[in-house]
Amino acid sequence: MGKIVCAVAIALSIPLLSLLPIQFASLNVPGWSFSAGLFATSAEAWSNPHGSYDATTGLCAACHRAHSASGPAIMAASNVRNLCDSCHQGYQGSDYDVEGGTIRNGGANSPSISGGFSAAGVTSEHLIDTSGNPLRVPGGASSSTTLTCVSCHNPHGSSNYRLFRQTVTWNGLNASVPNFTATLSNRLATETVVYQTGSIDACDACHSDYSQRVGGSYSAGFRHKVGVTISASNTPGSLPLEQQSPANRIVCLTCHNAHSTKVTNTANGGRQGFSTALKRYTDSGMCSGCHFNQW
Ligand code: HEC
Ligand code: HEC
Ligand code: HEC
Ligand code: HEC
Ligand code: HEC
Ligand code: HEC
Repeated sequence: MGKIVCAVAIALSIPLLSLLPIQFASLNVPGWSFSAGLFATSAEAWSNPHGSYDATTGLCAACHRAHSASGPAIMAASNVRNLCDSCHQGYQGSDYDVEGGTIRNGGANSPSISGGFSAAGVTSEHLIDTSGNPLRVPGGASSSTTLTCVSCHNPHGSSNYRLFRQTVTWNGLNASVPNFTATLSNRLATETVVYQTGSIDACDACHSDYSQRVGGSYSAGFRHKVGVTISASNTPGSLPLEQQSPANRIVCLTCHNAHSTKVTNTANGGRQGFSTALKRYTDSGMCSGCHFNQW
């Protein structure tokens, strides 16, 4: 684990609202000015507003207004997506353009790990705040709430990878995601991620049936195994596997992106007309990624 990754993990583990002075000298600068050189490695140094709060923090004002708020939870934007986009679209306050699915990397932007939202060429995505009609969660409780960025991420910080919530409360759930970790290298540039542990819990929080082998609470069905290690007869290919003991485990993120995909289903693949379901490869290209040597 690189130096920067450790620093981020520490910064994000400070609990919100305890408002205690933070304990780490290297981070102990209040408000907006601490992060230069810590989080940003490319042209612009942005202040990271997600955690590291202390008693005199000015960071709350990055997202909240006491008397002039334009949205619920006294947010400085009319809804959560617009709030996140105020920094995570078009590089106005972060090196992650989440809507566009890119990471600022000098002049040549790199594709993000997760994919963009509603960006050109996206063929399926986790649908955020669109019509206001809640969509059914495949393999989960029928939903009464639309999905937003904070259904999955905690804007106030989290010790999980990518600020993923430690408890998913969206739609009345109370699902624990205790330890979702990954190792990032070349952060904020051409990032490479090695998933370590806990990612199945993250997807399972809402899609609870999909980690079950047979059946489940919401529907009956057989599912491809997850959480199992790849045996010698399967070729891992280029699909990511979780590495923390035991190594080489298949997880949801082995086959799916978290935000969206740009792959298309072709007629020959037999899935035309179906959603591309956030898949990493076109059609059943993923299957041969591992099972190629068997047939
Ligand atoms: C990066 C943006 C961001 C920053 C910075 C931020 N918040 Fe929030 N906060 C939010 C969002 C978004 C919500 C609404 C969450 C929701 O809709 O569930 C929220 C909700 C809240 C709530 C309502 C309860 C809850 O947790 O949902 C409180 C209280 C709160 N924030 C306090 C603070 C304080 C105090 C600070 C500064 C120490 C702060 N926030 C900094 C984005 C932020
Ligand atoms: C005021 C600007 C600002 C706002 C508003 C904001 N962010 Fe961020 N966010 C940042 C910065 C800065 C970083 C650190 C990375 C960087 O420098 O680009 C970051 C990082 C992140 C990360 C990656 C953390 C990591 O360790 O890899 C996630 C996830 C994230 N933000 C989600 C959100 C969500 C969800 C919202 C809306 C609730 C939001 N952000 C609103 C500025 C912002
Ligand atoms: C269904 C859950 C979910 C939703 C909804 C979601 N994210 Fe994410 N996000 C994730 C996961 C999981 C990752 C890490 C995926 C990986 O590394 O493969 C991630 C990664 C990120 C990152 C790191 C950079 C990147 O793109 O890889 C940022 C920043 C971010 N999300 C912000 C947002 C914002 C802003 C929204 C709303 C527009 C949002 N997320 C909606 C689950 C979600
Ligand atoms: C906070 C709840 C939540 C979490 C966590 C979550 N999802 Fe979803 N997911 C949904 C909802 C709601 C839908 C259906 C509506 C939509 O597409 O947004 C969905 C739809 C999907 C779809 C089908 C998309 C399509 O076009 O058919 C896939 C695939 C998926 N999720 C994979 C994942 C993976 C992989 C993870 C873990 C990284 C994950 N989800 C985490 C709520 C969640
Ligand atoms: C071995 C690859 C693979 C793994 C691992 C995997 N999926 Fe999928 N998933 C797919 C494919 C391929 C589809 C497209 C539909 C199909 O072929 O059944 C899909 C479709 C989906 C859908 C859309 C609804 C549907 O059933 O068609 C959801 C939701 C989903 N997956 C969630 C998950 C979750 C959550 C996990 C982890 C517990 C997971 N997937 C693990 C390959 C995978
Ligand atoms: C990341 C590697 C990987 C990918 C991608 C993958 N598989 Fe598998 N598959 C495995 C492993 C490992 C097993 C379990 C072998 C065992 O039981 O030890 C398995 C088992 C199976 C089985 C045996 C039946 C069962 O449930 O045990 C079938 C059928 C199968 N996979 C089909 C597929 C299809 C279809 C796809 C594409 C949607 C796919 N696999 C993608 C690695 C993979």
